[in-house]
Amino acid sequence: FFLKEKDLYDLVHRLCARTSLMAEVLFRQERIMISKGKIILFLLILLTALVVLWGYNNSTEGSFLCIYPYQSRGKINSNAYVQKSWWLSNWFNNRSQDDQVEEPQLSDWFNPKKRPDVLTVTDWLAPVVWEGTYHRKILEDYYTKQKITVGLTVFAVGRYLDRYLEEFMMSAEKYFMVGQRVIFYIMVDDSSKIPWIQLGSLRTLKVFEINREKRWQDISMMRMKIIGEHIIHHIQYEVDFLFCMDVDQIFKDDFGVETLGESVAQLQAWWYKVDPTEFTYERRPESAAYIPFGQGDFYYHAAIFGGTPLRVWNLTQECFKGILQDKENDIEAEWHDESHLNKYFLLNKPTKILSPEYCWDYHIGSSSDIRLVKIAWQSKEYNVVRSNP
Ligand SMILES: *[C@@H]1O[C@H](CO)[C@@H](O)[C@H](O)[C@H]1NC(C)=O
Ligand SMILES: *[C@@H]1O[C@H](CO)[C@@H](O)[C@H](O)[C@H]1NC(C)=O
Repeated sequence: FFLKEKDLYDLVHRLCARTSLMAEVLFRQERIMISKGKIILFLLILLTALVVLWGYNNSTEGSFLCIYPYQSRGKINSNAYVQKSWWLSNWFNNRSQDDQVEEPQLSDWFNPKKRPDVLTVTDWLAPVVWEGTYHRKILEDYYTKQKITVGLTVFAVGRYLDRYLEEFMMSAEKYFMVGQRVIFYIMVDDSSKIPWIQLGSLRTLKVFEINREKRWQDISMMRMKIIGEHIIHHIQYEVDFLFCMDVDQIFKDDFGVETLGESVAQLQAWWYKVDPTEFTYERRPESAAYIPFGQGDFYYHAAIFGGTPLRVWNLTQECFKGILQDKENDIEAEWHDESHLNKYFLLNKPTKILSPEYCWDYHIGSSSDIRLVKIAWQSKEYNVVRSNP
């Protein structure tokens, strides 16, 4: 379906003609029977007609504000829709303009040659984002115009809540996606213990109570199921991108829009330079997370993963399927949900990988590879926060 300019003019003329005809009829009736309601109705119609003419005169180069974008998206299939969208366009701004902003290409914002000292592109041509390789401003301008919203889920259960949540949230407020709209999804077992956090105007906090599992391994594995459920019920309608993070870490610098992508994985700080044969993948073939020696690209860290809501949903479903299958077979993967995450990313390659600067452990010591730490591990006080070994 396609309207030519001439057709549009005709359409408006017909509309105007019809409007004035109705006005005339009303006007005659009004002379016979003067009623307030009819005068108001008449005024309304007159006003509408004026708006039509106003829009007609103001349309530059004879084009109508919203009609072309609607058409190009193939949503119009009846005349009525054309009329409606056109009428609406008089009341609302040319919102479609936002949709037309071109998405920057990878080469516009990412230069892998800036960091010859480290791996910056994978075999399957996904960028590995290191400090120095990206031009954040270009992406920021784009995403700000797109008015995106980024979600961040974090689980804080039992003593993890007391010990880590406040620092995580305070630092996330300061450094996570500054300038973009953000929704924090906090999953806790006791919402009365949520610390008071002053949030900026673009930030929203949503707190959900979850049941407490007895073993921390189960908490971390149930996380996949719970995130998946929340994505289906509401998160997919609320955000454009979603990150899922562990709570026992702290933001140290800007974690910006250069990290956004369809499917985003984090390199584990201790393993990024190690030979894959040494990775602590699950090596028992009975487990769903099994990765044989000789396979596997990187060791990914379950402390940070993300992507579009549907890609993250797919990840959580596949990982949870593996976890359930292992439970049935009475086996538990060596590193729990992280083993399943690594299996997932082996089969479904991430489209973007974050360098260990995005999740660094200072216990490793200083390294010239690490130029700017965005998130650092908190000291893992396992004896304090874990109730079982
Ligand atoms: C409305 O959006 C279209 C498509 O991006 C653009 O060509 C046109 O110039 C815009 N009109 C105004 C008035 O901003
Ligand atoms: C996840 O995505 C893969 C690849 O697109 C697909 O084969 C699989 O069925 C999806 N899983 C679920 C649970 O939708």
